[in-house]
Amino acid sequence: MIDLHSHVLAGIDDGPEAIEGSLALARAAADAGTRVLVATPHVSWNYPNDADTIAALVEDLNARLAAEAVALEIRAGAEIAMTRLIDIAPAELARLRLGGGPWLLVEPPFAPMVTGLDSILLDLQRQGHRILLAHPERCQAFHRDPQMLSSLVRAGVLTSVTAGSLVGRFGGEVRRFALSLAREDLIHNVASDAHDNVRRPPGTAAELRQAGLEPLADWLTEQVPAAILGGGEIPPRPEVELSSIEPVRQPWWRRHH
Ligand SMILES: [Fe+2]
Repeated sequence: MIDLHSHVLAGIDDGPEAIEGSLALARAAADAGTRVLVATPHVSWNYPNDADTIAALVEDLNARLAAEAVALEIRAGAEIAMTRLIDIAPAELARLRLGGGPWLLVEPPFAPMVTGLDSILLDLQRQGHRILLAHPERCQAFHRDPQMLSSLVRAGVLTSVTAGSLVGRFGGEVRRFALSLAREDLIHNVASDAHDNVRRPPGTAAELRQAGLEPLADWLTEQVPAAILGGGEIPPRPEVELSSIEPVRQPWWRRHH
């Protein structure tokens, strides 16, 4: 499994404070079946990280994981706040792409009204970047205007939903919206957005299973992310019966397997 969104690097955003926390997160990721974890620290006004810092921390963490025989590869990336995008120099922006491929992980603002969200993203595409939108299901602007999201997808933007959203970790409204996006073929990836090994843990398989999305798991968490990292063509979504993917009626924390 390839996890495209995680805050595994220590001391540079709201992820772990020290490398021990990174190691705990990495071990939990490997235990949950992840073999490649993309480190996507925030690049925002609060966390003005740069590609050099991220690359150095990725190298350190990979060396530590190898020394401790943790079977997990960390790749460099970033979660770039949309409000910060215009302030980043073009060469730096290209270095912040996921795993060195053509895709940028862009975080839309959580606010209900966002002016120019779609035009900013389409502009980036015209500059040669591909856009993977981080957790659109947690963005109020898309709840108010789902058509904006579907037209962005028609224009080539892909979406990465947070696994926890599918099982209610961000509330019922976010869960229902995420599941409706799945039914409408508007989800292309599911990632953990892990921040630690407990409260916001890595792994996506259990959540996909609980949400009834297991038939899409390989496509969402292996095939599409491999194409994103490698810069290849995105494989078509497998034909699965989506009417069977209904909102989970029982809260995720009461379900047992
Ligand atoms: Fe994130």
